[in-house]
This record gives sequence, C-alpha cells and structure tokens, in this order.
Amino acid sequence: MHLHGEPPPPEWRQALRGLPLPAWRYVSRVTSTQDAAQAWAEAGAGEGCLVVAREQTRGRGRGGRPWLARPGASLTFTLVMRPLPQEGPWLSRASGWAALAICRVLEEAWGLHPHIKWPNDVLLQGRKVAGILIEAPWKGAKVPRYMLVGIGINVKVEAIPPEGRVDFPATALEAHTPAPVSLPRLLRQLWKTLYRWRYRLSHPDLLKAWEARLAYKGEEVWISPDETHTFSARLMGLTETGALRVRLSSGEERVLPSVHRLRPKREALP
Ligand code: BTN
Repeated sequence: MHLHGEPPPPEWRQALRGLPLPAWRYVSRVTSTQDAAQAWAEAGAGEGCLVVAREQTRGRGRGGRPWLARPGASLTFTLVMRPLPQEGPWLSRASGWAALAICRVLEEAWGLHPHIKWPNDVLLQGRKVAGILIEAPWKGAKVPRYMLVGIGINVKVEAIPPEGRVDFPATALEAHTPAPVSLPRLLRQLWKTLYRWRYRLSHPDLLKAWEARLAYKGEEVWISPDETHTFSARLMGLTETGALRVRLSSGEERVLPSVHRLRPKREALP
C-alpha cells in the first residue's frame, strides 16, 4: 500500500490550490483509500486531511460489499474527521452530511435533482451515482479518535459496473451532464461544500435537507435488516439522529438505526 502519497499530477495540484486543506495525498494505486487514510490518521492526520486515489485494488462498500471502479473513471477519496467531544450525539448524522454535500454539488454545479437512498447512497434518476462508507475506531468511545469518510462517485460512464456485479442499478455523473467532468475540480467543489456544513451536524436544517432528498419517502419499500430477512414497510422519514422511520402494514412504527439493504417495492425482489 502507498502510504505517503506521490507527487500529485499538475491538474490535481492546481484544482486543490488555495483550499484551506491541512494536507492531502494522491496515490495512483492503493488497496483502498480507507486503508491509507486510516494509517495516516493513526500517524496523526488532522481534521480535513484527505487521500485521493486514481485506482483502488480492493475498494470497499458498506456491508462488506466490494466497491468496483475503473482507474481514473471515479472520484475515490477518504476524508479524515476528528470529531469534537460535543459532536458525540450527532455523529450518526455524518453519513447524511456527506450525502448532502454530494447532492448540493450536483444541484449547484449542474442543476441536477439527486436523491438519497437511506442512509447515504446518492441517486440520479433512481440509479446510484455515489456511495459513502464511514469507518471509525469506536471501541465503546462516545467520540472516536477519528472517522474516515470514504466517498466514491462514478464520474465517467466507464465507471458504471456491469449489471449483475452490483446490487443496485448504477449510473455515472457524465451520463447527466452536458460536458465532461474534471475529477480534481469535482473534489475541490465537494471539499468546499463539506466544510461549509462540517460543524453543523447538530443543526435541524441538516436533518431537514437530508429528509427533503430522501428517495422513496412515503412509498412502500423492501427492508432487509440482515442478509436473511426481508419485510415490507412504508418509508416515513428520519429521527433526530438520522435513523430511518418506517411504518409496518399493522400501523406499527419502527426505527432502524441501520439496514443491510433497502429497495423500492416497485422493483421486483431478485
Ligand atoms: C457503498 O456504496 O457501499 C459505499 C462505497 C464507498 C466507496 C468509497 S471509494 C473511496 C473509499 N475507499 C473505499 O474503499 N471505499 C470508499
């Protein structure tokens, strides 16, 4: 694994110039930017440091799923967060914060209308364009020493994994934009947007904005709490902490802090 980064290509240096980014590392090939960022965080990387990779050989998604991406076709990076003690109760909103930042960039830069498939997959016209993986050494702590916010955005159409290799239909940003998208400039916009909202995890507006973009709100969905069970419910919204609120056909409401899989009911179960 490359740990210390390489001299970044000029277009990355130019794009990130002038951002109040404490430090960043570019790696052309790495197992996963999560691994590189974790090693760096253990060695002292501060809030806002990031590792961006051209290629990941073992990119990972939520629930142990692989994250597949052709070299140079996706924006793949991990941001190091150093949560403050007072953020403890709100850290479960970090996935919404990151998903919202992606949505806002897509809205502001291209006038797109993304949705968030709870908790944090970003969809364009019902297909997944970006995923987020948050990892942290909790070990019983109220506030972990650091959090690794891993973001993968399919940018070029070559980034779209073949049907059958993903568990949800995928798309790429350039399938929705009139002109090619620069990966480094996208990262610049995203970092700025993430930091506009970074210290507002507890703000009610964050929850409102997340809920306003929730995919399938008010609709029937299939929910798999684990790999072996699936039930249907109506997706109602979010709780204060960003957990999912659903209503069963019996009328009973349930709160789900996490799920293995969520799908719209209008699609047939595989
Ligand atoms: C998901 O959709 O399940 C989450 C995908 C997260 C992918 C990103 S790419 C950058 C970072 N490094 C990884 O190995 N995963 C995340």
